[in-house]
Amino acid sequence: MADKKLLRVAVIGGDGTGPEVTAEAVKVLKAAAELENFEIQFREFDLGGERYLKTGEILPEEVFQELKTFPAILLGAIGHPDVPPGVLERGLLLELRFRMDQYINLRPVKLYPGVETPLRDKGPNDIDFVVVRENTEDLYAGVGGFLKKGTPDEVATQTAIFTRKGCERCIRWAFEYTRKRNAKKRLTLVAKTNVLTYGHDLWWRTFQEVAKEYPDIQTDYNHVDACCMWMVKNPEYYDVIVTTNMFGDIITDLAAILQGGMGVAAGGNINPEPGGTSMFEPMGGSAPKYTGKGVINPIAAIAAGGMLLEQAGFASAGAKINRAIQAVTGTKMKSQAAGKMGYSTSEIGDLVVEALASV
Ligand code: IPM
Ligand code: MN
Repeated sequence: MADKKLLRVAVIGGDGTGPEVTAEAVKVLKAAAELENFEIQFREFDLGGERYLKTGEILPEEVFQELKTFPAILLGAIGHPDVPPGVLERGLLLELRFRMDQYINLRPVKLYPGVETPLRDKGPNDIDFVVVRENTEDLYAGVGGFLKKGTPDEVATQTAIFTRKGCERCIRWAFEYTRKRNAKKRLTLVAKTNVLTYGHDLWWRTFQEVAKEYPDIQTDYNHVDACCMWMVKNPEYYDVIVTTNMFGDIITDLAAILQGGMGVAAGGNINPEPGGTSMFEPMGGSAPKYTGKGVINPIAAIAAGGMLLEQAGFASAGAKINRAIQAVTGTKMKSQAAGKMGYSTSEIGDLVVEALASV
């Protein structure tokens, strides 16, 4: 008999409720591996606010090197009430995204059955699209500075960086993804070409050029402000959206609430190159006030686990997790809000495991 395929996963539980939700995702991933007959190994990494406060370390070089040997990282949450904003986000989350060149931020926006959306008259058939967000450039590049800091004449700059290589690889990936997804076969570029006449002109021209290689994909363009309006009015119009880092950050929070909020929404930071390390995370934060109470919703973390499998080459196992989640939201959970689910955090994990066997 051939050896079983092996998947090694690094787990960064992180802060607050992060470790609780990743524990449920790990539980579900193990069950999925058993059902689909592959081997999965986990290794936990202690990073986040607690470690930073104790030792001053955010991401030691040897830990980074070790993490790079894994094809996939499952991340819980980063953010600690005693650490000033930006320290952990820049030092850990963005550092991993940038240094591992995870140039795709993939955000599926799917309203699962039984989940409430704030949009009246919209259901699971209407809210089912994907945002592909560039993940390494734009205002996030950290280029800027102060002049005359702390004086009345202070100047601050923060420069958006857009490169041909950076937008082309993201746009190309989005076209490929739209083709593979095989739904409406429509790719919408979201930008602001009427104002950002340099950076977004580069995006626009690159989009038009790459589109020529994909005659089977319908191309489309929205300004970002109009996109926010259409996403609320006609979410069913969208199939795949490709956009810049900063706009992608903003519209994916709008999208997340359409699909039921932070308890449900998951994302992937993907380095699609051979040997690349990708990182998957629930969108929600560390929710300090719920820590240790067993009331936080693990669905988003479990969905991140499903995405991880899909990207790591275990597509049928990933799809199985997605179906199991829908069985649980559709027939068991009372709500997606922390403390109102009708079950504890670990009971939800158990329910998804149970559903896996029959989906
Ligand atoms: C996200 C988050 C991050 C971002 C923060 C935590 C730095 O909002 O993943 O969307 O802005 O990218
Ligand atoms: Mn965000």
